[in-house]
Amino acid sequence: MSDEQKPARLPGPATVAIHGAVEAKRSGQPIVPPIVRSATFQWATPEDGELRYGRYGNPNQLLVGRKIAALEGSEAAVALGSGMGATAMTFLALAEAGDHIVASKYLYGATHTLLERELPRRGVETTFVEPESLAGWQDALQPNTRVFHVELPTNPSLRFFDPRPIAALAHEHGITVTCDATFASPMNFRGIEAGIDVIIHSATKYLGGHSDLIAGAVAGTRGLVEEVSRLSRLYGPALDPDAAWLLDRGMRTLEVRVARHNTNATAIAEWFETKEEVVTTIYPGLPSHPDHAIAAELMNGFGGMVSIVLAGGGDAADRFLGELKVASAAPSLGGVETLLSQPRHTSHAHLSPGEREALGILEGFVRISVGIENVEDLIADFDQALGSC
Ligand SMILES: Cc1ncc(COP(=O)(O)O)c(C=O)c1O
Repeated sequence: MSDEQKPARLPGPATVAIHGAVEAKRSGQPIVPPIVRSATFQWATPEDGELRYGRYGNPNQLLVGRKIAALEGSEAAVALGSGMGATAMTFLALAEAGDHIVASKYLYGATHTLLERELPRRGVETTFVEPESLAGWQDALQPNTRVFHVELPTNPSLRFFDPRPIAALAHEHGITVTCDATFASPMNFRGIEAGIDVIIHSATKYLGGHSDLIAGAVAGTRGLVEEVSRLSRLYGPALDPDAAWLLDRGMRTLEVRVARHNTNATAIAEWFETKEEVVTTIYPGLPSHPDHAIAAELMNGFGGMVSIVLAGGGDAADRFLGELKVASAAPSLGGVETLLSQPRHTSHAHLSPGEREALGILEGFVRISVGIENVEDLIADFDQALGSC
């Protein structure tokens, strides 16, 4: 076979996360892209291209958008100023007054509030469903349904549902499927390949990976990304060049970080399963997890998030978090350092104990974002902290 006949070899995800598109080098090209802090750009007519004014985009932000599209295998992607900016702009792009959304009931708290309380003020209603049941999605369908929204894996209950039947049903009815895949990162789950139309990330988490920036991203068709970009020019959640540069810097190590998150979390979940102070250990990689089989089929790794329920309830959880020495108590995830939080105090504080229980968030529920420290040090830290429970 001549070189011309050979199909083009696609670079692997670690290469894409480092280089973006692999293209010919030019002399003197910096190996690390410079931060371009200019708030405005030479621009006289539309022929001058996409760089015009910082709220519309900047070179660092455009670069990470292209990388995220390549990692997700989508036509396009845009990086924005936060994960919630990305989520809100996506819903506004897909639904207008009079439209309807069907969403999984397992959602990050702010996304739930946006759908339940904020979008109805703009004329967009949402029905929440148990995502496991296809009949639930079917029953919730209305003639004005425009979006099916899921989170995979879910925050903080770590459920993983098969999106393929949900996507098939949606597409029969011309409905767009959106998925917040923050907990997986593009290394562990490529939703576009599973039939999802739009992938949303809080890039604050695994994509950035160092708990030092706030950013978000939307990946999908060129048309959808253009509409999200148009709205973000109006609503203003632009990603500034410094945060975009840090995000690009973090993404360069995404593949090795996520591999280590996966192995550390697996070891920690297996260890917690043996502890009598812990009544439940939730990790999609454990055979005891209800979604283990589908997660094993669709995910490349089971992720860095582990949730546990302490036998001693909320008081024990407060004491456990207070005793940690290597890990910290803080409400974020996806960074190199291990962070623990109690959703009843953070992302799901707006719900009643009964509402939390219906989502699997029982008294004593602790969410652990397992970092990439030496796993023996983390286990030793958890072991000494469990002594207080
Ligand atoms: C699953 C998920 N989606 C979206 C967000 C919001 O992201 P950001 O804080 O970057 O706005 C979060 C934040 O914790 C999250 O956990």
